[in-house]
Amino acid sequence: MKQKHNLPFKLFSQSLTVLKQLSRRDFLTKSSLAYPALLSLGMITSAPAHAFELRQQNKGKHVVILGGGLCGLASAYELKKLGYTCTILEARHRAGGRCWSIRKEATNTEINQIQQTAKFDEGLYFNAGPSRIPHHHQLTMQYCRELNVPLEVYNNINENSYYFAEGKGALSNKKIRAREIHNDVRGYTNELLAKAIDQNKLDLAMSKEDMEKVIEYLRAEGGLDIHKLYKASARRGYSDAPGAGDKAGKIGDPHTLHDIIQSALLDPDFYNVPEYTYELQMTMFQAKGGMDSIAKAFEAKLPGTIQLGAEVSGIKNTNTGVEVTYKVKGENKLLSADYCICTIPLPVLSNIDHNFSSEVSRAIDFASYIPTGKIGLQFRRRFWEEDESIYGGITHTNNEITQIFYPSNDYQSKKGVLIGYYNFNDKAKRTGALSVSDREKLALEKGGLIHPQYSKEFENSFSVSWHLTPYSLGGWALYTSETRASIYKALIKPEQNVYFAGEHTTYLNAWMAGAFEAARSTVTAIHGRVTEQHLNYPVQKN
Ligand code: ALA
Repeated sequence: MKQKHNLPFKLFSQSLTVLKQLSRRDFLTKSSLAYPALLSLGMITSAPAHAFELRQQNKGKHVVILGGGLCGLASAYELKKLGYTCTILEARHRAGGRCWSIRKEATNTEINQIQQTAKFDEGLYFNAGPSRIPHHHQLTMQYCRELNVPLEVYNNINENSYYFAEGKGALSNKKIRAREIHNDVRGYTNELLAKAIDQNKLDLAMSKEDMEKVIEYLRAEGGLDIHKLYKASARRGYSDAPGAGDKAGKIGDPHTLHDIIQSALLDPDFYNVPEYTYELQMTMFQAKGGMDSIAKAFEAKLPGTIQLGAEVSGIKNTNTGVEVTYKVKGENKLLSADYCICTIPLPVLSNIDHNFSSEVSRAIDFASYIPTGKIGLQFRRRFWEEDESIYGGITHTNNEITQIFYPSNDYQSKKGVLIGYYNFNDKAKRTGALSVSDREKLALEKGGLIHPQYSKEFENSFSVSWHLTPYSLGGWALYTSETRASIYKALIKPEQNVYFAGEHTTYLNAWMAGAFEAARSTVTAIHGRVTEQHLNYPVQKN
């Protein structure tokens, strides 16, 4: 389905035009917004919001599934409904892959790091991988419905969170509420446009009545006064809050556009694109108690199917099926099956022996994945709520930490875990290269500039660098239009009896819905082949 060019999309396209003036490299490395913008470059077809219903049971075939992340789990779940025998080989000692909530006793040993063990209090956690579900990701919503995973609203947008620009401007090195910058910038830009139209500075093929309509709209949108000037507006908040009796409150003075620009608050790090980005528009959701409830719900439906601690070392197509070699507790094993669904992330697969064609082999070796990392910080007091009235949402900064995510659950409870950084590309590489204790130091030092309460309230941390985490080696697949035509194309068709699947074989990169789409489309392809039916994905519901 083609995306309609509605107003938010147009606004986003316009911001993209600005972004395109940056070189791709600049864009990826300098902008904390690179990720949401990248997501929006591939528009999405909508998924069927119903349980998967393919006809005809299979004829006793065995499918080996490599990787027990969401795609592997959902593939086994759907195949088993159709009567297939499935074996999931999962290298880790847990299922779920990147869908991982860090709670007490979770462990991780990254490349060149000591082993971390989470010391969070019972009941406290953070989602190291996926943390938010767009309302239009119908497959994710469907599986949560089908498997009884309770959801709660994930607050992705909070006008009361902060912008913090390190730099030399008048507004630098202080925290400024997002609403102040949003409304001041909206006010000034609408004022500029209203003036330009009013003074006939734009060569517009528009009737006078239409122009007046546009100007009225700009006035409303920007909070402009009768003279089309942006002075101040309650939208940007109060310097003295309204109250009882004669306490009318005082609207804060706007920052000047000059100060905003000089303080880097119009730089890409602070573009307001996330609010417009299709995948990040509210309403968003999260699984109650941790996103890993989704993986656990699948796992509960797959007794005896998942072999944990099974590290795959070879995948071989044979005349009759596929042979997979793997190691469990140091012991080499061989498994033969009719088909294989390989969900292993491409940088990991690149180190595994196989007899694939050179086109597929090249595609696997040259695929690009994003470096990204998060740290969870446990605090003994929810000072962001108690002292600063921040309930969920994200603070943005142009320094190494990029952003702070406030929890969208257990509001007003005693303790909490913040995501103290969530960064990408070069910032994530530099952060990941630090020792675990230096990562914590960085998060506390940079976050402490915004929240001085950090030093008194901090208890413990756990960090994850996905590009350094064995069996992942990256956050998610990144494609350009060129690699969609080469690498991607080579991987979305079966290699004899091996099917590649995961978010990396979809246009829903970085989302759980990508794993689910890939699972369903692969199951459809295998089932069509086995039962000699012509099945196309998405399968239309009758
Ligand atoms: N989809 C992931 C996020 O929400 C990457 O940040």
